[in-house]
Amino acid sequence: MRTQIVAGNWKMNKTFQEADDLVNELVEFIETNKAAHRAMIICPPALYLELATDMARDTELYVGAQNLSQFEKGAYTGEISAPMLASMEVEYSIIGHSERRKYFGENDEMLAAKVRMALKHKIDPIFCCGELLVERESGKHLDVVKSQLDNTVFKLDPVEFGNIMIAYEPVWAIGTGKNATPAQAQEMHAYIRKLISEKFNDQIADNTTILYGGSCNAANAKELFSNPDVDGGLIGGASLIAEDFIKIFQALK
Ligand code: 13P
Repeated sequence: MRTQIVAGNWKMNKTFQEADDLVNELVEFIETNKAAHRAMIICPPALYLELATDMARDTELYVGAQNLSQFEKGAYTGEISAPMLASMEVEYSIIGHSERRKYFGENDEMLAAKVRMALKHKIDPIFCCGELLVERESGKHLDVVKSQLDNTVFKLDPVEFGNIMIAYEPVWAIGTGKNATPAQAQEMHAYIRKLISEKFNDQIADNTTILYGGSCNAANAKELFSNPDVDGGLIGGASLIAEDFIKIFQALK
C-alpha cells in the first residue's frame, strides 16, 4: 500500500511560542501512535523550520518547507535555497501552491526549476496543482491540471518522478469552507494517476501518493480519504490546531 499522508501547510501563521506548542503536541501524539503506511508532515513558516526539525528529530513527525528558491545560491535577497533547507534536515517542500502562483507570479517554468533544485538536494517535492472556479465551471479542470503536470513534474525521468508527491488543490476550495465533493476529488485523483501511468508506468502510478487539499477538515476528511485514489490531505486552516490535525491524521486509510 502506498504511504497515506497528512501534511499541514501552516502558511503565514503562528508566533514562535505558538509554533513550539503545536509541534510539541504533534510530537507527543505521533510518538504514542505510530502507524505503518501513515505519515504526518508539517510545513511551518521557514523561520520555524529549525525549531521543528530539532523537535521532530528521531520521531515520526516529518518536516517540510512551504517553498524554496529555484536558484542554488547567491544574490537573491530574501530567498531560501534547497541546500539551506537540506542542511537544516528539511525533507520535503511544497512547490507550486496556488497562493505562490497567484501572489508571487510563480509559473510552470519556475516551478519546474524548483522541482529540479529540490530533487538535486534530496528534498521531496509536494507538488501542487488545481484549477480555478471558472476553469471547473467551463469543464476545463482536467485539461488545466494535465497542463500543470505536463509542464513541470512530467518532464522528469521516471526515477526522479518517484520522489514526487502530488497535491490536488482546487483553488476554489482553498480557505473557502467549500471542499471538493468526494466524487470530484476521486475523479481528479484517478485522472492524475492515469496520466502518471501513461507518462511513466503502472507501478510508478500505483506508488505515487496523491493528496487532496482545500477545506479538508476533521469533519469531512474520512469521507474524502475513503476514495481509492485519495491518499491523504494537504491541510491549511485545520492544521493549525493540534486536535483537528490529529483527527484528520486518524481519518487516513
Ligand atoms: P485550507 O485547508 O485552509 O482550505 O487550505 C488548503 C491549502 O491550501 C493547503 O495547502
